Amino acid sequence: MSDALFEAKSKFIERFGDGGRLRAIRAPGRVNLIGEHTDYNCGLVLPMAIERYVFGICRTRSDSRLVVESTAFPGERVDIELDGRIESRAPQWTNYSKGVAAEMLKAGIPLVGMDLLLHNTLPVGGGLSSSAAILVATGLSLLAGGGNRMDADRLALICQQAERNYANVPCGIMDQTAVASSRAGHAMLLDCRDHSKHFVPIDSKELRVVIANTMVHHELSDGAYAARVDSCNYAVSFFQARDQSVRSLRDVSPEQVQAAKGTLDDTTYRRAKHVVTEIERCRAAAELLGKRRYEDVGVLMQQSHDSLRLDYEVSCAELDFLVNESLEAKGVYGARMTGGGFGGCIVALAQPRMAEGVIEHLRHAYKRKFGIDATVFSTAAAAGAGLAD
Ligand code: GLA
Repeated sequence: MSDALFEAKSKFIERFGDGGRLRAIRAPGRVNLIGEHTDYNCGLVLPMAIERYVFGICRTRSDSRLVVESTAFPGERVDIELDGRIESRAPQWTNYSKGVAAEMLKAGIPLVGMDLLLHNTLPVGGGLSSSAAILVATGLSLLAGGGNRMDADRLALICQQAERNYANVPCGIMDQTAVASSRAGHAMLLDCRDHSKHFVPIDSKELRVVIANTMVHHELSDGAYAARVDSCNYAVSFFQARDQSVRSLRDVSPEQVQAAKGTLDDTTYRRAKHVVTEIERCRAAAELLGKRRYEDVGVLMQQSHDSLRLDYEVSCAELDFLVNESLEAKGVYGARMTGGGFGGCIVALAQPRMAEGVIEHLRHAYKRKFGIDATVFSTAAAAGAGLAD
């Protein structure tokens, strides 16, 4: 049993008492290698699960209450009746657990009362999908408690509905799918239109994935995410007015966007340009990764970052700094911001024997520049969520 799992079980017993059958779930975080802000446009994404987790330790209760605590948020808890009305309310993390329960009930899945403790080795709110890991860990705990099983894609959809309806984030399907369905040693090329997956091997002898957390989360971010979604929807209506078969930006080519320059307002034009070119970059990067052409993948990551910075406008000074510093370090193929943006993390692809040097370099450079201790680590591609015991 890993140290973190052992710690999670001990903490469960401290809070909820000994006895009964404990079940343990492990839900990983994710990092997206390329394909950013494309999931809610029915595009392509290339995430992988990372070796940082949310553990869920659970035990059924004799009543129909769901009680959830998290070691990351001491003093706060979910305590709801599963046969009553489930409402979203602060603190925000509790809405993820409540939302999953509510969406499962809505889908007709019978649930039983449960005590659940969430315990993280995954940084909270750092753009590595700690919220999707909470969603999936809660979902799998509820399923295990009731003796139910569910296909990972259906679980991801239920978790997405929970995030949209209870946490009020108009997110796409990438994070929940990556957490629920990743495969060890692989990145996942996910087509967010039909949810088909193609797994691309990542050889840990050739590639190490370095993640650096800026430790900042700029205000504005939640509203700005929704504003990007709105811009994309507006762009879809623009192209749809000219071609009724257009359902999403996935159906629009880079050439069509280019041709709309000057007709479409500049902001919408740049947002659409990012999305359609990013889908192409993601497709190409997955193919090149499969062919082990890491230098070429790196070039696409760089282009992705520039597009997010200049056209989609979701980067910030801290992310740009870490990306530039990564590129200056020896043994780095490419680097870019990852996740929603406005803070959170960057991802860099490095030669394994150089990874430690890159990590040290980023820590020092960031501390010197911003006076902040960044969390920087490297990871292999981990497996998706499942039972941990
Ligand atoms: C957040 C959302 C995802 C996705 C990314 C940007 O992580 O939850 O659905 O849109 O931002 O790629």
